[in-house]
Amino acid sequence: MTADLDHDALQALLDRLSKDAPRCFNEGKVADYIPALGEVDPNHFGIAVCHVDARVQYAGDALTRFSIQSIVKVHALVLAMQRLAPDDIWSRVGREPSGQAFNSMVQLEVERGVPRNPFINAGALLVTDLLVSRIVSTQYTLREHLRRLSGSDDVGFDERVARSEMDHKARNAALAYLMKAYGNLDADVETVLDTYFHGCSVAMNCVEMARSVAFLANRGVNPLDGSRVVSPVETRQLNALLLTCGLYDAAGDFAWRVGLPGKSGVGGGIIAILPGRMSICVWSPRLDGYGNSIAGRHALEGLVEGIGFSPL
Ligand code: DON
Repeated sequence: MTADLDHDALQALLDRLSKDAPRCFNEGKVADYIPALGEVDPNHFGIAVCHVDARVQYAGDALTRFSIQSIVKVHALVLAMQRLAPDDIWSRVGREPSGQAFNSMVQLEVERGVPRNPFINAGALLVTDLLVSRIVSTQYTLREHLRRLSGSDDVGFDERVARSEMDHKARNAALAYLMKAYGNLDADVETVLDTYFHGCSVAMNCVEMARSVAFLANRGVNPLDGSRVVSPVETRQLNALLLTCGLYDAAGDFAWRVGLPGKSGVGGGIIAILPGRMSICVWSPRLDGYGNSIAGRHALEGLVEGIGFSPL
């Protein structure tokens, strides 16, 4: 372990990563299986860190909002952990890496409707079911949860993206109905899908996103307002899940290259956690074949190398 970079050295590193990002702009493509996502300018890059004392540093397009997509699966799981007993969650969804694409159906059939983990689509739909079955207005509650965690009171849904996802829902609907057929989904499937898509459609920028997950670097306490989000044990459990399952069938490669708990979304965002120090959010819309941001992952490798510290 080396000493922390001071403020100016870290800022210089973030600026350099942002300046170097266009080197990745000849690779990958924007997710277009949800048409509204395909309209984004592919050549954005933003990066932000939120220290455990709540200071924020950023570079590039870190103040431009993007579709957070699957990153919301982390916030949704946290909401479920706050509201439900552990058994009510973990009797319905596993905690093992899937080794499969985020929207794969194969394993769900073989494993009789029990998703491998809460971060693949089937698992996130299951967590959404847990929430809508217990909370009267899940969409409102999730939005308030994101506003509180990020410290931004105008974070909200992008209705166009949510509608576009609903119009192209076939695969997620198939996952949800398969779980329903196995008796592992309680609520009305269309309500679960609508709520899940609204969560995915939330627009946030890198600074807001880094703030919203800073509690994961801070033993479960949100550094913005000192409130406890989850316990230290739950923080460790969440980070373990992020490390093993956060990047789907690329989780091993991400751990190899970056060595931090992380979560990606097909909007091009990736969050990563440096426990005890900072949360990070990078965003760049060009994706690799696994649905993960190419420039984002590259920048995280550079950040970890530049900081000279890894928890692993
Ligand atoms: O379920 C979907 O297809 C999207 N709303 C979310 C997928 C996603 O972000 C996967 N992550 N890399």
